[in-house]
Amino acid sequence: MSYHAPQDQALSAQLLSMLADIKVFLGVSTPTLWLQTAVNNLEALLVDHAQCEKKAASAAMQLMFRYPQDAELCRRMSKLAREELRHFEQVAAHMQARQIVDRQQTASRYASSLKTHIRKDEPHRLIDALLVGAFIEARSCERFAALVPWLVDTGRPADLELADFYRGLLASEGRHFKHYIELAEARAGYSLEARLAELRAVENTLVIAPDETFRFHSGPPLLLAG
Ligand SMILES: [Fe+2]
Ligand SMILES: [Fe+2]
Repeated sequence: MSYHAPQDQALSAQLLSMLADIKVFLGVSTPTLWLQTAVNNLEALLVDHAQCEKKAASAAMQLMFRYPQDAELCRRMSKLAREELRHFEQVAAHMQARQIVDRQQTASRYASSLKTHIRKDEPHRLIDALLVGAFIEARSCERFAALVPWLVDTGRPADLELADFYRGLLASEGRHFKHYIELAEARAGYSLEARLAELRAVENTLVIAPDETFRFHSGPPLLLAG
């Protein structure tokens, strides 16, 4: 069956250029099966999205606690954490408008699996934590962008409100990705290409391999993929 994913017509040239860079950085795109599942499971998607925003703020604050002597890192992470909490408030408002009650939900394998690859010794621990942060932000941005056209035009009733919200998150998630990469490069003092390739291979497997649970960062659902 040939299928052409819908394209978002409403993005600026600057955002399109940023998304193109992120696509190259990530290497693989979100599978169509995940996108199809997401638009048919918006409640589960939003509940996990809310959780992801809280976790993103928490991860930034963990770096502030672990490296208080690094003023530049702390300044950028503080700003990032505040932005993530604002995103959480926005998701929560969308959920409330849809009468979706927030709840505890198991996390996907994605972030926890990536974090097992963070080396234990410094400065590698900091560099890897920053690179893992970059992958999570980049994948989030790629997924928001990929979801927008599906929310607008996939043969089901359009969800323009959610499409606008996700389109509006692209610039800040793209900026977060850039900040994590810049912080890692400035602290490594050597080329990160080899390490990025190792982490990219892990990340890509998590995105492509069938997954038991559907979450914002999960792979394509196992039951549908089988
Ligand atoms: Fe966010
Ligand atoms: Fe972010």
